[in-house]
Amino acid sequence: MTDLFSKFDPLIEQREALLATGVKDPFSLVMEKVLSPTRAICNGKETILLGTYNYMGMTFDDDVIQAGKRALDEFGSGTTGSRVLNGTYQGHKECEEALKAFYAMDHAMVFSTGYQANLGVIATIAGKDDYIVLDIDSHASIYDGCAMGNANIVPFRHNDISALEKRLARIPEGAGKLVVLEGVYSMLGDIAPLKEMVAVSKAAGAMVLVDEAHSMGFIGENGRGVAEAQGCLDDVDFVIGTFSKSVGTVGGFCVSNHPKFEILRLVCRPYVFTASLPPSVVATAATSIRKLMHGSNKRAHLWENSKRLHAGLKALGFQLGTDEPQSAIIAVIMPDLERGAAMWEALLSEGLYVNLARPPATPANMTLLRCSLCAEHSDAEVGQILAMFERAGKAVGIIV
Ligand SMILES: Cc1ncc(COP(=O)(O)O)c(C=O)c1O
Repeated sequence: MTDLFSKFDPLIEQREALLATGVKDPFSLVMEKVLSPTRAICNGKETILLGTYNYMGMTFDDDVIQAGKRALDEFGSGTTGSRVLNGTYQGHKECEEALKAFYAMDHAMVFSTGYQANLGVIATIAGKDDYIVLDIDSHASIYDGCAMGNANIVPFRHNDISALEKRLARIPEGAGKLVVLEGVYSMLGDIAPLKEMVAVSKAAGAMVLVDEAHSMGFIGENGRGVAEAQGCLDDVDFVIGTFSKSVGTVGGFCVSNHPKFEILRLVCRPYVFTASLPPSVVATAATSIRKLMHGSNKRAHLWENSKRLHAGLKALGFQLGTDEPQSAIIAVIMPDLERGAAMWEALLSEGLYVNLARPPATPANMTLLRCSLCAEHSDAEVGQILAMFERAGKAVGIIV
C-alpha cells in the first residue's frame, strides 16, 4: 500500500524541526475567552488581539448581538437546507437587501462563506474556452475557483498594470474574458491600482471581478472598498466579499448590476449544494452591514490606528510590507521562519496576538507577522502594542 500521507512528510519534518527549537506551536492557539473585539484570554493571560479580521469591531456590537439572539429564538439554530430548497428564510432575503443598499447595486447573493462565493462565481461564469486573467498573488479561494472551472488560466505579475494589458492582448479575439483582482492583498496589506486595471480590462472587452474581502466596511467613502475609493466601482461587474472580516460573523456574497445575475442561483454549485447560513448569522450580518453604512467615525479612527502603528513600527526599525499604510493590515517581514516563530511567541508572552504567515500563503517565500488593526483599538492600546513590539524585537534580535 502506498501511504497517501507520504506527500506531507516534508511539511511534517519542517514542523517537527520548528517545535524542537522549543517554540510554541503558532498554529494551535486557543482563545479561552473573548472579552471584546480587541481582547481575549490566551494561555490564561489577557491578550491584545492584533491578528483578527475584526476591522470594524462589530463582533460585540449590542444591536448585532440582539439581532442574533432574536433570530435564534424565532427561527431556530439552523436551516438544514440549501438556499434553493428550504434554506432561504426571511433573514437571508433581508441580508441580501442590506447588501444591495450598502453597495447601491441591483443584485446580491449570499453564500455560506466568502471562500464559496469565489469558488462558485468564478467556476460558474468562466467556463470552457473562456479565459481568467488573475493577479499571481490572488487568494486561495480565487485559485480554487479557477481550478474548479474549465477556463484557461492566465496569471500576471502582482499589481503590474502593463503585464495585465499584455496578457489580455494575447487572448484570442472573441473569447470570453474574466479579470480577477483584489482590492487589498491580505498578506502584505497593499492595495491594487484598480482604476487603471479596470480601465485596461474594460478596453480589452473583459468582465471584471474584484474581491473586496479586506476593504469592505473600511476603505472608500461608504466602506464599499478600494474600487469605490478609486472611483471605478461602476465599471466592476462583480464584487465578492465576506462576512468574516468587517461584518464580524461568517458568510460570503457577490453583488452585481448584471441583468442576468439571478440565474446564478440555479447554476452555481457552491450555492446550491450546501446548507444555507443559520438564521442567527444572517440576522447579525444584516444588522452589522446596515450599521457599517454609517461607520464613517469608525473608519476614520481605524485609519488613525493604521497610520500610527505603521509609523511606529517603521521608526523602531522593523521592515514592513508597504512603504506607507494602505489598509488595516500591516505586515512585519521576518528574516526567516525560526525567528518569525520566536518573535510571534515573544509577542504572545508580552500579551499580544498577531498572525504568523509563511509560505505558501505568503508571496516570495516571506515569513510575516501580520498585524490587523481594529476600529476598537484605543490610542492607549496602540501605544502598548508598539512597546510590546520594541521589547520583543530587541529580545529576539530582530531590531537593535
Ligand atoms: C481575499 C479573500 N477572499 C476570500 C476569503 C474567504 O473568506 P471567508 O472567510 O468568508 O471564507 C478570504 C479569507 O481569508 C480572503 O482573504
